[in-house]
Formats: sequence, structure tokens, C-alpha cells
Amino acid sequence: MHPETLVVSAARPARQVDAPVNEPVHFTSTFVGWEPDSAGQRRLYGRMSNPTWDGPEQLLAALEGVQDPAAQPALLFSSGMAAITAALHLAPNGGRVVVPQHAYQGGISLLDSLQQAGRLAVDRVDITDTAAVTAAVAGTGAGSPAGPASILWLESPTNPMLEVADLAALTQAAHAAGALVVVDNTFATPLVQRPLELGADVVVHSVTKYLAGHSDVVMGAAVTADAELHRRLHAHRTLHGAIAGPMEAFLALRGMRTLALRLERAQSNAAELARRLENARADGSLPLAAVTYPGLPDHPQHGLAAAQMHGGFGAVLTLVVAGANGAGDAEAASAAAADAVVQQVRHWLPGTSLGGVESLIERRRRFEGEPATVPSGLLRLSVGIEHVDDLWDDLAAGLRAAAR
Ligand SMILES: Cc1ncc(COP(=O)(O)O)c(C=O)c1O
Repeated sequence: MHPETLVVSAARPARQVDAPVNEPVHFTSTFVGWEPDSAGQRRLYGRMSNPTWDGPEQLLAALEGVQDPAAQPALLFSSGMAAITAALHLAPNGGRVVVPQHAYQGGISLLDSLQQAGRLAVDRVDITDTAAVTAAVAGTGAGSPAGPASILWLESPTNPMLEVADLAALTQAAHAAGALVVVDNTFATPLVQRPLELGADVVVHSVTKYLAGHSDVVMGAAVTADAELHRRLHAHRTLHGAIAGPMEAFLALRGMRTLALRLERAQSNAAELARRLENARADGSLPLAAVTYPGLPDHPQHGLAAAQMHGGFGAVLTLVVAGANGAGDAEAASAAAADAVVQQVRHWLPGTSLGGVESLIERRRRFEGEPATVPSGLLRLSVGIEHVDDLWDDLAAGLRAAAR
């Protein structure tokens, strides 16, 4: 079945007279049962399972290419960070995690705190340098502690630099070194990229973003086809208690019904805006120092992205606003101009996060934890599903006004 059909038709109640079309929300903390091993009892208690989780968990596993999503459903978590925490827990005490230099900042901060606590060692790498990542995972890279890593953590495209990692090659190298591979697939979604089919062991998602899609839910998920990893992730969720609420699970499934449509429009808007912005940068008609989108032919990993991503290149793009000519501190001038754009636009909403129907814009370096390698004047744009001309007119006017 095509994913476009799957998102609409999977996880519906049985087709029988008077059955509801949608699975109702099950607000319950406990389930009836007499003995610990009551015949056939599967549910027991609301921290272990909830029937409202079943639909989104099976649908997400099916979208990620798990062969038997009823046996190995995805595991919903209370947030993307809770799913990331559970996946990092797969590393043994004293293990080493190799992670991209640029990646979701919350995950990086969590790794920093685990390193400070002595729980894990962390190596940050340029994820586009396959040879260097391979050496870091094997423990043979310059400055890398001896011994193989426990986990290779991948994100592609990366947040916010939109670098593209060679998922298949890196997964193969990590497995040769005995490391698990976890991929944060939030930016691409399983409609565009399926890391498990490229060999990855676990995929994590911030369901908050494209999957739920309406900026009204915070939720995460972990997906694996490996029964033992599934058991460990499930045990972590049950024991640490970071479960999804039933209402959020209902909203996530409702959002996933339109994932294919939303993504199609958002990706075509992003591709068109990237093309117009790049033309405006090249002819100097807008104050732009850089435009980055994996779908642009001059993106450094465009060929890899075209081979690895299907049906689009995601709906996040970045631009670096050029500061006033001759400004003493070029970085500060670029940051000031970028802030002015965010102030000027009327249609784009200033805010963090991504993947909702509405277009969002933010200057990433306003966050203290953002690495200094991210340009001060970089704006991250999460492109929504509005009419592309309205988005363009507003953004171009904001850039022109900021240049004055
Ligand atoms: C790529 C990525 N992974 C994970 C997360 C964390 O997800 P959540 O905010 O749902 O905890 C985010 C949130 O911004 C993200 O962008």
C-alpha cells in the first residue's frame, strides 16, 4: 500500500455496522483484571498501554517500514526528548556516543549532561565526513578514545545546518564496529526517508512536528524492528513513565491522516521559496549571504540527498541575512538584520519548532546553546502549507525592509 493510502486507511476500528470511523479516546488509568495473569489480559495499567496508542503506534511503524507493525509497533513517548532519552539509555554505562556537531540542541544538551555525570562519553563529528565519522565510531579517529562507540547518533538533514549524512554507509560502518545506529528522522519524516530500511536500528521522532502537524501536541516516538531493542525501549518507557496522554495520541493520529498532503504542499512551497531566494541572492536583489536547502543543486550533499530522500527534500530551509555594507562587526550586523526580518514579516510566525501547517521563522543563535559554527544571521524557516506567493511576498518585503 502506498504511504498516502496507509496514513488515511490504517488503524481504523473494524468495518462493521455502526462502528465508529475513528478509534475513540480511552481515558482510563487502569484495566479490569482479576489475577496478575488473568487469561488474555494485555493492558493492566495505563502507564503500560492504552488502546488509543495502538493506532498511531502501528501506523508509524508501518510508515517506517517495520514488517509486522502489530508485533513491533512504534512506542509513543510524552515528547521527542523522552524518546531520545530512552534511545540513549540503550548505551551501557561508560559507553561512547558519536553525535553530529550540529544536531537538535536538546539532544546535545542531554548528552552534555550525561557526559558531565560520567554516564557516557560523547564525540562530536562532522556528519558529512563519512571517513571521519567511521573512524570516530571505530575509535581510531584522531583524538578519539580507543574502542568502538556504543551508539552512532544520526540526524539528516541536521538541525539547523541542513547537512545530509550518508545513512547507508554510516550505518554499515557503525555495525562493523559493533555500534547501534539511532536516527532522528523528525526533519524528513518516514514519507521522505526510511532509515530502518537503510539498516538503522532505531528511529526516533519528535511527533510534535510533522507527524502531528498542527502545533497542538507535544509527543515523541521510537521505532525499531528489533524485538530485543523494542523490549528494552518499552521497559524504559514503563519504568521511567514518560508516556503519551490519550488525548495527545488521538490528536497525533488525526494529524497523521493528512501527513502526505501537508508534506507535499510544504515541500513544494519550500523548494519554490529556496529557488526564488537563491536567485535573489545570486542577482543581489535581496540582502542574502547564503540560502541552504538540500533540494538546491548547489547544496554540498545535493546528490546524496536526491538518492536518499524520496518525493522531496523536506520543508525546512535556512538563509543567512547579509548585514549592512561596511559594518564593522559583520556577524553582529548580520544578526541585527536577521532580527529585523523576523520583526518585519507579518505572515511568517516568529517562533521555534517546525512541521506545523503554519510557517515559522526564527534566528537560531538567539539561543545561547547554539554552536558558534551556526552563523549569527542564520534564519531557520519551517515552511507551512499556505500559498507560496503570500509567503514569498511577505518574506521578500521583510528582507527588503531589513536592508534599508
Ligand atoms: C530534530 C528534533 N528532534 C527532537 C526534538 C525534540 O522533540 P520534543 O520537542 O517533542 O521533545 C526536536 C524539537 O525541536 C527536534 O527538532
